[in-house]
Amino acid sequence: MSRKKKRVAILGSTGTIGQNTLRVVRRFPERFQVVALTAFNNLKLLARQAAEFDPDYVAVSKDRYQSLTGKIENKKTKLLLAPDDLEHIASLKSVDIVVIGMGGSVALKPFLSAVRAGKTIAPANKEALVVAGHLIMKEAQKYQSLIVPVDSEQSAIFQALQGNDRQELKKVYLTASGGALLNVPSKIFDRLTVQDILNHPRWKMGKKITVDSATLLNKGFEVIEAMRLFQLQTDEIQVLIHPEAIIHSMVEYLDGSIIAQLGITDMRLPIQYALTYPERWETGLKACDFFKLGQLNFQKPDLKKFPCLALALDVSKNMGTYPSVMNAADEIIVDAFLKGIIPFKKIYTILSRVLRKHQCIACPDLEEVIAADRWAREETKSFIY
Ligand SMILES: NC(=O)c1ccc[n+]([C@@H]2O[C@H](COP(=O)([O-])OP(=O)(O)OC[C@H]3O[C@@H](n4cnc5c(N)ncnc54)[C@H](OP(=O)(O)O)[C@@H]3O)[C@@H](O)[C@H]2O)c1
Repeated sequence: MSRKKKRVAILGSTGTIGQNTLRVVRRFPERFQVVALTAFNNLKLLARQAAEFDPDYVAVSKDRYQSLTGKIENKKTKLLLAPDDLEHIASLKSVDIVVIGMGGSVALKPFLSAVRAGKTIAPANKEALVVAGHLIMKEAQKYQSLIVPVDSEQSAIFQALQGNDRQELKKVYLTASGGALLNVPSKIFDRLTVQDILNHPRWKMGKKITVDSATLLNKGFEVIEAMRLFQLQTDEIQVLIHPEAIIHSMVEYLDGSIIAQLGITDMRLPIQYALTYPERWETGLKACDFFKLGQLNFQKPDLKKFPCLALALDVSKNMGTYPSVMNAADEIIVDAFLKGIIPFKKIYTILSRVLRKHQCIACPDLEEVIAADRWAREETKSFIY
């Protein structure tokens, strides 16, 4: 029996998530059709992807738009702008699934647009959910949009919830590999270089998320992301350091049973699950070798050594516009760190200062979320530059 192809738009196709999504899609040419690919700066790669997957639309930043015109061989492909036209792409009639593989709160508008068009959404992006997940989830219910998370921990929770009664959930264990600094003593943190921080022991990811993994702020974002996606309270989530990164998260139920999702550390696993849900297809990836692994380890997170996680947990207790401020400030701070403008230890100092100065609005609407984001960016820049 011939099946209808799933029609996919990939926002951020040149990033780590985007490239992994295309690796999944490439294995099943008879089951997926790529309708749109979007990038920002990386024209070379986007042009190669467009030549291979023949999408109807590609989008790049204003600055790169002109140079791409000559690089797209296929005349059928329409050129658009990123991020300006991403809301349009995310709501195209010809798209079934929108993969959100771009970083930052810039994904918020396309995310909402996909939700309002009733699409199936595979978000790797956590920032949109962190800053406005309360609005996204409300709209998803209204427009019957299905959200199947790609972030590996959220995918694990999503999978552990399948077939169980949400009312019987007792606790979620959100696992964290611990990032590049798990075994580095904090007394040498002020000597760390950008390269030291970018050496993640388990996952190969974009630079921003790798820095957030080193500070463990990424785990704080994920606590809030899980609260948004699964309607959890902060005290229902326990962050658990698990250096092998084999258990991607677990759900404990009232009877004490704990359901975990395990797998090798490869983002193609959760990406493919989101693309094929509710089915499971072969990935062709190597299996988890428990004999080789020998043991799995767990630790409590050290909130003194990683104060950014403590900050994020405080934010998760207060919410309102705080997540928006934390996210926007972090985007500016990490960018400054990556450019060598501030040392690693300043990430926490500046972030906590900006959060302290913020006048929080409880239950913000979209304009208030965006205003808080704008305020935080300006405020953070004034501390750095
Ligand atoms: N990487 C992972 O394994 C992983 C795991 C879980 C969750 N996530 C989340 O997934 C998201 C993406 O992470 P990543 O590691 O894949 O990032 P990445 O490698 O830096 O890729 C980001 C993508 O977004 C595009 N982009 C950048 N700025 C943009 C803008 N202003 N407007 C439109 N597009 C823009 C980039 O285009 P150019 O390449 O052309 O600049 C690229 O395609 C993040 O939210 C991250 O937290 C990632």
